[in-house]
Amino acid sequence: MTVSEPQSATGVSKYHWPFERKRGCPLDPPPALAEIREAEPVTRVTLWNGEPAWLATRYHDVRALLGDAKRLSSDTSREGFPQSSETAVAQRGGQKNFVRMDPPKHDRHRLMLTADFAVKQVRALKPFMDSMLEQCFADMEASAKPVDLVKKLAQPVPANVIVKILDLPPELSDFFLDRVNRWMSLDSTPEESSAAGADALDYFDRLIEERRDGRGEDLVSRLVRNHLLTGEITRLELQHMLHLLLVGGFDTTANMIALGTLTLLEHPEQLTRIQEDPELVPGAVEELLRYLSVAHHVGFRLAVDEVEVGGRCIHAGDGVVAPIMAANRDPAVFVEPDRFDVRRDARGHLAFGYGVHQCLGQALARVELQAVFSRLFQRFPGLRLAVPVEELRFKNALIYGIEELPVTW
Ligand code: HEM
Repeated sequence: MTVSEPQSATGVSKYHWPFERKRGCPLDPPPALAEIREAEPVTRVTLWNGEPAWLATRYHDVRALLGDAKRLSSDTSREGFPQSSETAVAQRGGQKNFVRMDPPKHDRHRLMLTADFAVKQVRALKPFMDSMLEQCFADMEASAKPVDLVKKLAQPVPANVIVKILDLPPELSDFFLDRVNRWMSLDSTPEESSAAGADALDYFDRLIEERRDGRGEDLVSRLVRNHLLTGEITRLELQHMLHLLLVGGFDTTANMIALGTLTLLEHPEQLTRIQEDPELVPGAVEELLRYLSVAHHVGFRLAVDEVEVGGRCIHAGDGVVAPIMAANRDPAVFVEPDRFDVRRDARGHLAFGYGVHQCLGQALARVELQAVFSRLFQRFPGLRLAVPVEELRFKNALIYGIEELPVTW
């Protein structure tokens, strides 16, 4: 695809979303985004089904669009809502959780969870996280090398955390791992993806049944007691809310751990900096979030009113794509955006989204990522890739990631 092609007279673009990443540069967003930002920052693209949509590529435009929940809906069940692929339609179309709702209903549902995900609350999980990390490291040490860091560290960390938060039997993490992977993969057929989602929803239905007297102090029992039994949320919505916590908290963090490790191994001088000065770790985590922008298919909206952005007028009924990976590499905001630099002040990044839908679990994600990156390279100072980087397989999924990361030390 060349981005310099002119738009057709009908206004339907020849630029097809999604764009491909460049061969040999798997950690960078598709180069087309930078070219479009330069040429025509808000432009039309054609989606997989031939439908047109608006694409924004500048940081301030993406942020303005994500921040405007009044005029831009997140409700995927609305006619004309834009999507990346048929599988993405199957994944998101049936969702009945608050990331797919607009205010005021969105706000009422989100409020049911905010206290549990507040900074103070998630910091209390630190001792649990430290001992769980220690177990993962011990498991790595006991395994024959090379070790797949995805299986031994990146996936178990968030899986154990979410299982702890929802107070589920630990042996369920494998079941969830499998269903989330199949649900999120864009290589799954729409039927496979829907079936995996349905399995997890069925599990949550049984869980709600088990805890229906609402007597326990765990999060699920409290949600049942305080919101289901009072009629504020339906049973189906509660199932979907629990599913959202599972998928929202699991794949994103797992992929950040795996890709973050790879990024640091590929930038040894940056890695040395955080090994020598652990105080740099929180800043390095923000830079990893910016640089990797793993939620690369997040930022789809449907205009429900007229919106002006970047000198363009978007009409009600138009689809909008506001990719955070484009915003996070905008040179107008981040100097030399393609350079990975752990000393950069990356805090304004949009990796957790922006506006009312900004990630509910961001404090938790930060605690997990900071714990991993302050300890992994201290514990395994000689950690290195066990295969050439060209042999790694990157995921075609809603959240960007890597299938396996074979490491040795
Ligand atoms: C590094 C890890 C993570 C990344 C990069 C990430 C990214 C995001 C992004 C970009 C959004 C906005 C979606 C949109 O605007 O459509 C979001 C929303 C959300 N995330 Fe995360 N997330 C992470 C970890 C977590 C964790 C650990 C949890 C909880 C267990 C979580 C739960 C949620 C929820 C519930 C929402 C919906 C918020 C709303 O609509 O009000 N996320 N996340």
